[in-house]
Amino acid sequence: MNATHRDIKPHSEIATLSRTYTRDELDTTFTLDTVAAVVGMSPGFVRKVLGHGAKRVSLEETLHLLEQDAFHETFIPRSRVPRYLLSLPPALESCDRLDLGAEHTLYHGNAKDLLPRMPARSIRCIVTSSPYWATRIYDTHFPVDWSDGESCPYGHEQTPEGFIRHTVELLFLAKPVLTLDGSVWWNLMDTYNTRTQIRSNASETLKAMQGKDSRSWADYACRRYSAGHAYLSDGEQCLIPTRIAERASRIGYWVKSVISWKKEGSLPETVSTRVTREVEHILHLSLQRSPYFNKDAFRTLPPPLGGRNARYEFDKVTDVWCLPTANGRDGHGAQFPLALPGRCLALTSEPSDVVLDPFVGSGTTIVAANALGRRSVGFDVDKDYLETARKRLAKDTQISLPGLTIPQP
Ligand SMILES: C[S@@+](CC[C@H](N)C(=O)[O-])C[C@H]1O[C@@H](n2cnc3c(N)ncnc32)[C@H](O)[C@@H]1O
Repeated sequence: MNATHRDIKPHSEIATLSRTYTRDELDTTFTLDTVAAVVGMSPGFVRKVLGHGAKRVSLEETLHLLEQDAFHETFIPRSRVPRYLLSLPPALESCDRLDLGAEHTLYHGNAKDLLPRMPARSIRCIVTSSPYWATRIYDTHFPVDWSDGESCPYGHEQTPEGFIRHTVELLFLAKPVLTLDGSVWWNLMDTYNTRTQIRSNASETLKAMQGKDSRSWADYACRRYSAGHAYLSDGEQCLIPTRIAERASRIGYWVKSVISWKKEGSLPETVSTRVTREVEHILHLSLQRSPYFNKDAFRTLPPPLGGRNARYEFDKVTDVWCLPTANGRDGHGAQFPLALPGRCLALTSEPSDVVLDPFVGSGTTIVAANALGRRSVGFDVDKDYLETARKRLAKDTQISLPGLTIPQP
């Protein structure tokens, strides 16, 4: 990577599992839940493989789990699992917790650093639209050090697998934050493994399609290449949302639904060998089989806040959501419509609950939370977006918001 280009070029490491550890390392133990999440098995299955019900699992036993057919990568590649476990701090209890006392709070910072600082079981509902893989270039290029060894801004991984691992790592960090009956709603779009320029927003892409972009390939700061992936061919769909859903299940979530969001007004695509896309996905995940779920809320919600879209939807809320795309007027190139977080919050939280958007952008989730009487917390690495969020909320409520601060963590 040179100083001017931040290209995305598939690169998959070829690495094998080392078995050279000291006796002390092999005898080091970790909680059953952590080991189970890292190797992608349920705690019950780990007990079955190991033949005991102890609450802690040694590194030696973990090596045995890594040899099972049932092993499946979650957020750490197999070759790095032992070193990852050995590097874990003994406990996070001593770290400073974020203050959630205000009605709405925006924190400026990286979601991966802020999630472990949230008070345990403080959030009833997480609603978010994270950066999609290799799709957008944001003003703030914020490199994150991920536990799989990659250091890159979230969404700018060299491979879709890197992005999948990082999303699953964030979901892993979100588990202790959620109330046991809470829900996560994670909006994602898939990416095709193609060679393309990465642009900042949909209107730039539209202009390029209309031949109104005079920039050459070399002028782009960020370009995505397709050659070099371990198995994906040029032009193939990566299947990112469903692969994340499967791994979410492996780290201990219930996959309640993989919702198709049929967008009204999606971007045209210049393709002639496949159908045009008009769907994004929303993963609904929970920590138990029966999360808090108020299905009737759908019937009483106003449509701008996620109630029934009379043109396409009937009385029941199903796994196909017909919602408009956002108008982008708030200066954020990747906003979701108010109806999306509104619907999620109404279904799985109650008034006065605290809800979280770890990628809050222009603040759509907090505006929806405010309209529904929920308290909220938002994170973003971009101060300007947080300022937009703050202004949007202030305008929306027509009151001053002394509780709305942008503290540094
Ligand atoms: C898809 S946008 C969210 C848009 C938002 N739903 C809205 O309606 O405005 C993703 C956001 O994630 C932020 N972001 C990227 N990396 C981040 C990180 N590591 N931690 C926190 N925020 C991050 C970006 O600045 C961007 O605003």
